[in-house]
Amino acid sequence: MSSAQPDAETLHAAIAMAIRAPSVHNSQPWRWRINRRTVDLYADPGRHLVATDPQQRGLVLSCGAALHHFRVALAMLGWSATVTYLPDSADADHLATVEFAPHEPAPADFELSAAILHRQSDRRRYSSWQIPAGYLRTIASRATHYGAAVRHVPEGLRASLARPAREAAARHAVDHEYQLELAEWSGRRGTPDGVPAVNSPRPQPGEQIPVRAFAEPDLPDRTMHPDAAEWLVVCTAADDRTSRVHAGEAISAALLTATDLGLSSCLQTEPLGLPELRADIRTHVLYDCAYPQAMVRVGWVPTCAAPLPQTPRRPVAEVIDQ
Ligand SMILES: Cc1cc2nc3c(=O)[nH]c(=O)nc-3n(C[C@H](O)[C@H](O)[C@H](O)COP(=O)(O)O)c2cc1C
Repeated sequence: MSSAQPDAETLHAAIAMAIRAPSVHNSQPWRWRINRRTVDLYADPGRHLVATDPQQRGLVLSCGAALHHFRVALAMLGWSATVTYLPDSADADHLATVEFAPHEPAPADFELSAAILHRQSDRRRYSSWQIPAGYLRTIASRATHYGAAVRHVPEGLRASLARPAREAAARHAVDHEYQLELAEWSGRRGTPDGVPAVNSPRPQPGEQIPVRAFAEPDLPDRTMHPDAAEWLVVCTAADDRTSRVHAGEAISAALLTATDLGLSSCLQTEPLGLPELRADIRTHVLYDCAYPQAMVRVGWVPTCAAPLPQTPRRPVAEVIDQ
């Protein structure tokens, strides 16, 4: 390992970029520790959404996405990262230790780190413009670098995502604990975490695969024509905690690549929080060959769509333990 190390300012800048990562209900369930030669990433169990995400799958995926954002930001700042996953067998919250080496930034590093600043979850309907098949292949191939796969779900197979998504929405509509958590974490106005009301459209009746319903939706969605969105499923060969960190990295790679290509995107994980519905998707979409970790919708927003406000984040100092 080279003796040169990134200075504190560089590491703070990279963590500030990392926390732009998507997280379940914008819970931002991560903590970072800066050491002399390494940075540690921890899951923050105090931000675990127990009713929405009982197995902590979404929590670990969110941290994996932040880890990938961190690597992208570091690469742009001139550092490559070597990651040791789950380095402490006695502490399951210690998800990664990152070591550094000098790196000559490539044009792709600048493109992906610019995408960090532009990516946002756009839950509105997309336009009727088709996505070129090559774009979907590019998204999938960038994500496979991180030990997870991205499967495109062709139209003929979408009913197998739609059925569990509708079933999950119906079950959650009468699940008191889930609804309490949803009300606590969404419909937000002016808070540094949670899903803002202005980023949530009202669920559209008749939508084939419904988006998750959040509290007090306040985002107008006036698109009327058929939506040509495509659906992807991020999946892993195993289903342990390390695989979920990898899946989070792959989700981040897929979303940033989509953003770089000019596409909008959003995640939909509601049915994956319910074990039988997740098993249903594993069988009918992935033929029992892989574990589904997240569903991703990508598409073009109509040119007339109003810009979306960025979702807030907690101050970077709040997530760093010195
Ligand atoms: C693991 C994970 C699961 C998510 N599940 C959903 C979901 O089911 N529905 C949804 O609309 N957004 C989902 N999101 C997106 C978050 O709500 C979003 O990232 C967060 O509110 C921050 O907003 P931003 O992505 O615009 O920065 C998920 C994100 C992650 C990382």
